[in-house]
Amino acid sequence: MSVREVQAPTLAPARPAPGRPARPPVRLTQVSHHFGDTTRPPVLDRIDLVVEPGEFVCLLGASGCGKSTLLSLIAGLDSPTGGTVEVGARRPALMFQEPALYPWLSAGRNIELALRLRGVPRAARRAEAERLLSLVHLDGAHARRVHELSGGMRQRVALARALAQEGEVLLMDEPFAALDAITRDVMHSELTRIWQETGRSVVFVTHNVREAVRLGQRVVLLSSRPGRIVREWTVPIPQPRRIEDHAVAELSVEITDHLRAEIASHAR
Ligand SMILES: Nc1ncnc2c1ncn2[C@@H]1O[C@H](COP(=O)(O)OP(=O)(O)OP(=O)(O)O)[C@@H](O)[C@H]1O
Ligand SMILES: [Mg+2]
Repeated sequence: MSVREVQAPTLAPARPAPGRPARPPVRLTQVSHHFGDTTRPPVLDRIDLVVEPGEFVCLLGASGCGKSTLLSLIAGLDSPTGGTVEVGARRPALMFQEPALYPWLSAGRNIELALRLRGVPRAARRAEAERLLSLVHLDGAHARRVHELSGGMRQRVALARALAQEGEVLLMDEPFAALDAITRDVMHSELTRIWQETGRSVVFVTHNVREAVRLGQRVVLLSSRPGRIVREWTVPIPQPRRIEDHAVAELSVEITDHLRAEIASHAR
């Protein structure tokens, strides 16, 4: 499909027909995107990407290459100027670098708000919020105010709130970038556990190669202006992984070399 064949994102039901394989929760076909000036190269250029049910995909690329733009297209916050974005019937949940919680609500109430927007009856919200807080290892934190929580705890609440949306897909835009190394390490373990427990598909954006290899089943490398998929790697290392693992380091070196070459070619 050419860039001119503009089509709005298609919302298609994700439930597979009997005997048919499950439909991918995310399918991007020849997705291109321009902001305004179409004489400049597009921010994203003919991206083809399929995310399978339960798959964990990391998107990696230099700053400004279009990672957040790609997530916002998948989230339906914007429409691509070319190509098609197909997602499941339930809108993907999106989690940002900053937790973006409502400071005047408690941790639990922030989650309950997401449940309310999903249509969960009032009587069931409290118990479901408690369950989600427990899932992110914040038992008993329902009444805590946002300002009383550490950065890592706030990100856990944000993760619980994203899970409250019950989308099939969790989109994460550098969610742990602002955390210290130890807290980030804990959050990596938590996210891996929750991903395995919930069976959601995850699309995780980062510019940290080690983080991508620590978490992802697949790492997709984007180039800059235009943002294209230049290469991808399947990560054969079994979970649970650690960021210090030799195999993680080895693959990270290989991917970093490609990322550096990509940045250098862009700088020329
Ligand atoms: N709303 C917008 N209007 C115009 N240009 C935009 C808009 N949003 C993003 N851009 C431009 O599109 C390009 C890609 O931005 P994007 O935020 O997707 O990059 P990124 O890969 O997420 O970067 P980072 O790693 O720094 O977060 C940048 O050149 C940015 O300036
Ligand atoms: Mg970004």
